[in-house]
Parts: sequence; structure tokens; C-alpha cells
Amino acid sequence: METVSGGAGSPGHPVGFDPTVAIGRGLTLPNPVGVASGTFGYGFDLGALCPVDRLGAIFTKGTTLHPRPGNDPPRVAETPAGMLNAIGLQNPGVEVVRRDYAPRWRDWAVPVLVNVAGGDIAEYVAVARRLDGVAGVSGLELNISCPNVAGGLDFGIDPRPAARCVAAVRAATGLPLVVKLSPNAADVAEVARAVVGAGADAVSLVNTVVGLKVSLALGRPVLPGAGTGGLSGPAIKPIALAQVARVRRAVEVPVIGIGGIRTATDALEFMVVGADAVQVGTATFTTPRAALDVLDGCQAHAERHRLCAWRDLRWSALG
Ligand SMILES: Cc1cc2nc3c(=O)[nH]c(=O)nc-3n(C[C@H](O)[C@H](O)[C@H](O)COP(=O)(O)O)c2cc1C
Repeated sequence: METVSGGAGSPGHPVGFDPTVAIGRGLTLPNPVGVASGTFGYGFDLGALCPVDRLGAIFTKGTTLHPRPGNDPPRVAETPAGMLNAIGLQNPGVEVVRRDYAPRWRDWAVPVLVNVAGGDIAEYVAVARRLDGVAGVSGLELNISCPNVAGGLDFGIDPRPAARCVAAVRAATGLPLVVKLSPNAADVAEVARAVVGAGADAVSLVNTVVGLKVSLALGRPVLPGAGTGGLSGPAIKPIALAQVARVRRAVEVPVIGIGGIRTATDALEFMVVGADAVQVGTATFTTPRAALDVLDGCQAHAERHRLCAWRDLRWSALG
């Protein structure tokens, strides 16, 4: 079969196949496989093991107005088919991101979307404002769904505060806005409708699922503080698939699927239930180039099945 290299038809794509994914406001990802927030830093550390220029997108570590040291260790714990984390949004603060990191992203082929977090709406707005119009920043991913810090989570589990937060950020920036949804909401579809109504260009889901690991020997949870953390990895993939399918039915905007993706098959399954793109997270910790392996597998599948676009995979029941 004839294939093309470079440009929209990146290596190995069948002629006529469009691998790109439009996110909105002029942002188009070169392919649908990105790396998830908090698992790839700001794109600088893993470059030798996972060349970033072929990725579909980098979603950075959650970034706040001021630097945060994060929680005391231990901050991660292994669980069956997954991991718990309670990093506590360790990050250098938005000034470092715009002054030192963004200029380095400017020449990268891969779009970098800064994941934004905050303790209240004013902080989300302040971070978004500081990133607006900064060369190298292709968009924002609004983390209204982090289970490891007080405050921010509340926005993601209730449609009204979620919409208020998104509307305020929307008014503060012209950047493409992806809103990251929580699997801990009572009705994720309702939250999705609310944030799209408030101006989200796309939604991504899922963030981690609240979990707890206990040590019988110690007689207490393994992680400090309340002991809860965010569960990620293959254990949450069925939850994520179900929620992506639900959100796909609820909104028209692009949906980015996240949760337990390790292989191309995992990623393609998310596309079957309506994801336009995906993010690889925890898998990067064991296999730094996991996202590129996922991408290669997806491209091979597209060739084998002579797809015209990733949407061709979509389950017909989703319309
Ligand atoms: C160590 C760690 C740190 C994370 N930090 C963030 C973060 O700062 N902001 C965010 O939106 N999501 C964060 N996440 C959630 C991931 O981006 C992703 O939504 C989640 O882990 C599910 O995907 P996975 O199963 O492929 O890891 C973090 C996840 C892990 C494991």
C-alpha cells in the first residue's frame, strides 16, 4: 500500500489519511497521541528516551500562580494494576513557565498545552492571563479535577462551579481551552455540558480516581495526611472508557480520552467510544517511549484498515 512521509501524512500513513486532530481555535494536533499532565514534566526531562517531536501534544505538569513544593513523601504507592499518587501539584509556578520554558517550546513541532491548576477561580484566571499570548504556549488544559489539593477538586465535581471557573478563564484568554474532567463527579456528562456551555473548546478525561491504600502492618494508610491519592493506570481504564462514551454523547466538542492507556489497542478502544485524541500517562513511568509506541501501533492499524480519519473507528451507536 502507498504511504506518505512528513507533513499531515506523517510517516507510515496511508495516502488520503488525515492523522491530525482539530482541537478548536485554530489548534490542530499533528496526531492524536499526547502525554498526560504530571507524567512528562514540562517536556524536557524524557527527551532522550522519548523524542518529543513526534508526539501529538504535551500536556504539562499542573501549573499554579506561585511555586509549590508538593506534599511530603511518600507521594506514590503501587496498587494492583495501577498506582496512587498524592504529589500535591509540585511545580515551579507560572512565571518560570512563561519566562524559561515557553521560549524553548517555541521551535518544537509538538504543541505544548499548559495544565493550569488553582485553589480558587482567581488563581486559575491569573495563571491563564499570564500565559495568554505567550509564544510557545499552544493552549491550556484546565485541571478542575485534581484530587490531591484542597479547593480545585470542588470545581470538577459540580457543574455550576465548574462552569463559573471555565467562564472566568475563557474571558481571560484567547488560547484554546481544554477542560479536564473528574471521574469523581456524580454525573460527568452534566459537568461536560456545563463547561462546554461556558466556553471550553474541548474536554479531556479522566483525571485520577480517588483511592486509598492501607498498610495492615503499620495500621494506617500508606500515603501521609488523609491517606487518599489519585488512582491511575490500567485499573481505571474501564471507568475512563465508560465516562468518555458518556461525554461523547453529551457534547459536540473534541474529547480527549485518558486513563490506563498502555498500548495502541487501548488508545484505539478510546477512539471507538468517541475520543478524538488520547493521552498516555502512568505507562510512561515504566516505558518512557510508551506514547510513541502507542502512536506507531495506531498508525499501523490505520494503514491496515485503510482508514481515512480516526473517526472511522467510532462505534456507530454513538452517531
Ligand atoms: C504522578 C502523577 C501526577 C499527575 N499530575 C497531574 C497534574 O498535575 N494535573 C492533571 O491534570 N493531572 C495529573 N495527573 C493525572 C494524569 O494526567 C492522568 O489524567 C491520569 O493519571 C490517568 O491517566 P493514566 O492512567 O494514563 O495515568 C497525574 C497523574 C500522575 C500519575
